[in-house]
Amino acid sequence: MFKICSIGCGNMARSGHGPAFKKYAETYPDTQLAACCDLKIENAESFKEQFGFKKSYTDYKLMLNEIKPDAVCLISPVDKTVDIATQILEMGYPLILEKPPGRNKKEVKKLISAAKESGVTVRVAFNRRYTPLLAALKEFTKNEVVRNITYQMYRKDRRDDDFSTTTIHAIDAVKFIADCDYKTVDFTYQQIDGENKNVANIYLNGIFESGAIAQLSLVAMGGTVAERISVNTDVASYFVELPFWSNPDSPGKLTRLVGNNVTDTIYGDSLIDSTEMFLESGFYQENRDFFEAVRSGDYTEDVSSGLQSVEIADCIRKRKIKYKK
Ligand SMILES: NC(=O)c1ccc[n+]([C@@H]2O[C@H](COP(=O)([O-])OP(=O)(O)OC[C@H]3O[C@@H](n4cnc5c(N)ncnc54)[C@H](O)[C@@H]3O)[C@@H](O)[C@H]2O)c1
Repeated sequence: MFKICSIGCGNMARSGHGPAFKKYAETYPDTQLAACCDLKIENAESFKEQFGFKKSYTDYKLMLNEIKPDAVCLISPVDKTVDIATQILEMGYPLILEKPPGRNKKEVKKLISAAKESGVTVRVAFNRRYTPLLAALKEFTKNEVVRNITYQMYRKDRRDDDFSTTTIHAIDAVKFIADCDYKTVDFTYQQIDGENKNVANIYLNGIFESGAIAQLSLVAMGGTVAERISVNTDVASYFVELPFWSNPDSPGKLTRLVGNNVTDTIYGDSLIDSTEMFLESGFYQENRDFFEAVRSGDYTEDVSSGLQSVEIADCIRKRKIKYKK
């Protein structure tokens, strides 16, 4: 049996990962959802019942020592992720962890060292990289020269103390499309009248090492919830409306244009079995990819691939106006 343990049974675990684990176990019957863990016993118990885990715990080390799973998923609060993840890796268990893989460069480096030393499979769950419409965009652009990218991340009434942990999705997705590192980023902060100093809309101008240019609008206090992307390459223009928490753009759409011709139109629901959030937003695909990597003995880590995204998000947290690689 391929035994899976999950740690942290809060909002994200329940909306994104739990349904993904359930579908994976139904699709691959040699899988056992062995145990889940949360500091709050009621969270662990209800998660167990909702998604079909066999046992629940409040102490993750006890759980890992008793179950000895084949794979572990960590969906904990951002300020605890690196400490818990490092412990799990030191115990020698393959791990997928929710983004961000640290709040700053120091934390991510600590995790990368632990991952390398453990020699097990480690993945960071940046779900945009697995969102089917974004994966489809990448399939087109990988054979073309990306010249510019705009990413509009809109949220409504987001008064988070630290919105940078959400903006990292857009920062990382743009890097994923550009397929190389940012060289420089300039930041502009738009404070909102009547709100506290943490609440701001944020605008990034990035230049990539390839020469591609990116503009990101990371709008906490917008009119709706949406993520839209446009890309120009040497061949075509692309417009993508990402499905997002069943927003008005769901199930999403990708349009490819060359001159006056629409060469391709792909609707998000044509790429998946159903338009449930955990499928249209890539949660199933990122977990499945990790489990398959573990089963196939692919002992690589991809924490490093998220390092620059963390560094740029950390600039936002610190309200810096310039990043240089
Ligand atoms: N991919 C996305 O779109 C997305 C969106 C939101 C949040 N997230 C990420 O998901 C993660 C969790 O966010 P959330 O919104 O679910 O938070 P949450 O607070 O709802 O859930 C976290 C849970 O972890 C539990 N927990 C804390 N310490 C623990 C420990 N030592 N052992 C076991 N359980 C512990 C808490 O009791 C809580 O139930 C964060 O890393 C966040 O960045 C991702």
